[in-house]
Amino acid sequence: MSLKKQNQPNQDVEDSIDYLNLLVASGLALGEVADADELLSMMAETAMIMGNCEGCTVYEADEESLRFKLTRNRVLESRGVKAPLKNYTLPIDLKTAAGFVATSKKPLNIADVYNLPSESPFSFNPSFDVMTNYRSRSMLVIPMSDSRGNVLGVLQLINHLTGENFSGEVTPFPHRVEAYLKALSSQCGVVLRNMRMAEELKKSRIETVKKFVKASEYHDTDTGGHIERMSRYSVLLYRQLGFDDSSSEVMRLASMLHDVGKISTPDAVLKKPGRLTPEEFEIMKLHTVKGYEVLRGADSPFLQMGATIAYTHHEKWDGSGYPRGLKGSEIPAEGRVVALADVFDALCSRRVYKESWPIDKVFDELKNCSGSHFDPEIVDIFFENLDEVLEIKAQFPANDPPASAAPANVSKIDSAENSSSAAADAQSEIKKAS
Ligand SMILES: [Fe+2]
Ligand SMILES: [Fe+2]
Repeated sequence: MSLKKQNQPNQDVEDSIDYLNLLVASGLALGEVADADELLSMMAETAMIMGNCEGCTVYEADEESLRFKLTRNRVLESRGVKAPLKNYTLPIDLKTAAGFVATSKKPLNIADVYNLPSESPFSFNPSFDVMTNYRSRSMLVIPMSDSRGNVLGVLQLINHLTGENFSGEVTPFPHRVEAYLKALSSQCGVVLRNMRMAEELKKSRIETVKKFVKASEYHDTDTGGHIERMSRYSVLLYRQLGFDDSSSEVMRLASMLHDVGKISTPDAVLKKPGRLTPEEFEIMKLHTVKGYEVLRGADSPFLQMGATIAYTHHEKWDGSGYPRGLKGSEIPAEGRVVALADVFDALCSRRVYKESWPIDKVFDELKNCSGSHFDPEIVDIFFENLDEVLEIKAQFPANDPPASAAPANVSKIDSAENSSSAAADAQSEIKKAS
């Protein structure tokens, strides 16, 4: 679309229709952008078309400063001069045009930045022009505000042109253009505010879950590293199993909640260094039901998934797990995924009652348990994506407590099952560790 600047009858009306079409199109497109960088880049592109100008700079505002986000300049780009990519910031004060606009929350329309009125509180820094042999002249600076009038950024356009397709002479920005750019800037401000709020909500949700998990861990012997790693293993396996990105994001948080029910397990059982009696093991098993009871009934998808995982992460493919003895695909995929991720990490980790297992022994164990403890498809996916698994393992190194004098294979539950073979010991250790 080109915005003509000729003296034709009805030209203003035609221009207005063009501007409005651009605003509508940008409003629709802005609703689809994935992140703030894409939003600001799209805004800069649209602003340059609306402003029919040579250049554009976008700043994002926080409480005290303006952070340079991007700059475009068609003249410099045609000469092969690259825009500076530095992440510089300006204080929000009256000494620069952008700072002045962020402070006053009003647009500035300057005919020639080299001929500012003597009473102007801000000045123009010519160093970039000198460095690039460019001549800045007219400038339009617009605040990017949300619906409450908070300034979230500043849009700065340079050198308005009279001709079509970014040609002709540099002249001051017409006031009519200013009005449309204010509308564009407001659109972006609202979208940016919504994005920031969504991001803050997401962060606070993650923090809340982590605090919740930490509170339950005070009571347990597992470490935070275990939660981080097993959550990422779970997301990896879940995604490879065919679930989409948004479900996998829910899995990231939900898997962290798998053992929150342990908050109700008495210390005498949870921290008992030796073997559990059959009665104690029955108490231990209840953490699945208790976790489910705490989390179920919520509207939030991640709490719903968390409830499912808490309830089913000790079920086994062959039906020998607990609390309900579900079998095969009766066990929800979320529970099957977390079962493997949880056991894998637990066996690789040192705990107060056991040393970590050598990785080859862990792999052998997972293979041996394919079709008995674990869903064979998920075991296959695990080994098909071993590089990524090991990357996660390396990214979040264990900071586990040293093993005590307790024998490596002592389990709270092997006594409960009266088993003594090596395989049974391994199974016992898995049960306790996860
Ligand atoms: Fe558990
Ligand atoms: Fe765990």
